[in-house]
Amino acid sequence: IWSRGTSAEGGASIVKLRRMREQAYVLLWVCDVMQLLSSFQTSIQHCEEATTSLTLCFALAARSLFTQKYPPVKFLSEKDRKRILITGGAGFVGSHLTDKLMMDGHEVTVVDNFFTGRKRNVEHWIGHENFELINHDVVEPLYIEVDQIYHLASPASPPNYMYNPIKTLKTNTIGTLNMLGLAKRVGARLLLASTSEVYGDPEVHPQSEDYWGHVNPIGPRACYDEGKRVAETMCYAYMKQEGVEVRVARIFNTFGPRMHMNDGRVVSNFILQALQGEPLTVYGSGSQTRAFQYVSDLVNGLVALMNSNVSSPVNLGNPEEHTILEFAQLIKNLVGSGSEIQFLSEAQDDPQKRKPDIRKAKMMLAWEPVVPLEEGLNKAIHYFRKELEYQANNQYIPKPKPARIKKGRTRHN
Ligand SMILES: NC(=O)c1ccc[n+]([C@@H]2O[C@H](COP(=O)([O-])OP(=O)(O)OC[C@H]3O[C@@H](n4cnc5c(N)ncnc54)[C@H](O)[C@@H]3O)[C@@H](O)[C@H]2O)c1
Repeated sequence: IWSRGTSAEGGASIVKLRRMREQAYVLLWVCDVMQLLSSFQTSIQHCEEATTSLTLCFALAARSLFTQKYPPVKFLSEKDRKRILITGGAGFVGSHLTDKLMMDGHEVTVVDNFFTGRKRNVEHWIGHENFELINHDVVEPLYIEVDQIYHLASPASPPNYMYNPIKTLKTNTIGTLNMLGLAKRVGARLLLASTSEVYGDPEVHPQSEDYWGHVNPIGPRACYDEGKRVAETMCYAYMKQEGVEVRVARIFNTFGPRMHMNDGRVVSNFILQALQGEPLTVYGSGSQTRAFQYVSDLVNGLVALMNSNVSSPVNLGNPEEHTILEFAQLIKNLVGSGSEIQFLSEAQDDPQKRKPDIRKAKMMLAWEPVVPLEEGLNKAIHYFRKELEYQANNQYIPKPKPARIKKGRTRHN
C-alpha cells in the first residue's frame, strides 16, 4: 500500500491506515491502563489480605492477652456459685482469700478503705466478670446482696492500729455492727476475723478457745484487743437475738507475701532489716515466744470454717513455737545477711507467750497448717526482696518503726 502511496487510491489507504494506527495506539493505551489497574487491584487485594491477617493476628494476640490476664478460674454452676463479700479484701490476708475464692469460681466483692490495704494486692482481678472492688469504709452502712461475708476490715499490726486508736475502735465496733446488720438483712453468713489478741498476755499456755483472756482494757493495745472482743460479743448477740449465722476465727500471727513492709510486726521487721544489712531489733531479751502460720494455711482454715457448722470461736494458727531470738537467727541465715542482733527495751504489754491450741480446728474442720516455717519464710523473703527492688531508684523505702502515738486530732476518726 505504501508503494502505491502516490496514487489517489493509495493516499486514501494511507489515511485509513493512519486512523487504524491511531486506533491501535488508543487500544494499546487502554490495554496498558487496564493492566495497570489490574495490577493495582492485585496489590490492593494483597494489601487487604495482609490487613486481614494482621487484624487477625492482633485479635488473636489481644484475645490471648485478655484470657491470660487472669489466673485460672473454675467454673461453678449457678447453684454452687456464691456471692461473697470480703471486707478488708485489699489487705494482706484479704487479698489471698480473694485469690482463693475467685479461683474456686465464686463472685467476690472486695470492700476496702485502703487504710492499710492497696489496689496492687488485687489488681490482677480488676475487670474480671466475677470480681468487684468497692472503695468504702465499713464504719458507713453498706447495701449489697451477698450470701457470705468475710469480715476482715481492721488494721492488724500494732503500729497501724495504735496510729489511730479511735478509728480502730470504730472499725471494729460500728464496722462490725454494720456488717452484722447487712448479714441480717440479706440472710448471709458472716465470718469475723478475730484474733489471738483476745487472749491478751495469756496466763494459760497454749491458748484454747475456752480461755477468757488476760487483757489490759486501758493499755496501748486495748483499742484492738477490746475492739475485737466486743466484735465477737456482737456476733453472738446477733446470732442469739436475730438468728444470724456467725463464724469466729481467732487468728494467730500470720506471715507471707503482701505483708506490709513497714507494719512493725516481727517477721517483716526482721526480713527487711536483714535484707538491708541493718541490725535486727529484738525488744526485751528475745525469750518471748511466737508461733507463725503461713498465709495459705490461714486462708484454707477460714474457708473451711465458713463452710462448716461450727458457730463457736475456732483458733487458726501454727502451734510450732519459737523464741523471737530464734526467729531473728533463722531469718538472718535464710537471707544470708551479716546483720547484727540488737536488743532494745521491752515494748509495753508485749505478750510473753503465744501458741495456739488447734485441737478444735483439727477435730471439727479437719484443718491444720501444712506449710513448713522455712518454706514460708523463703517465699516471704523473695517477696520482700522484689518489693525493695521495685521501690529502689530514689523511691521511698519504708523502715521498720515503733508505733506512733499521734498528738492532737487524727485524720481517720
Ligand atoms: N495478719 C495477722 O497476723 C492477723 C492476726 C490476727 C488477726 N488478723 C485479722 O485479720 C484481718 C486482716 O488482717 P491483715 O493482716 O490482712 O491486715 P491488713 O492491714 O493487711 O488488712 C486489713 C484491711 O482492712 C482495711 N480496712 C481497715 N479499716 C477499714 C475500714 N474502716 N473500712 C474498710 N476497710 C478497712 C485495710 O485497708 C486493709 O486492706 C484483720 O481483721 C486482723 O485483725 C490478722
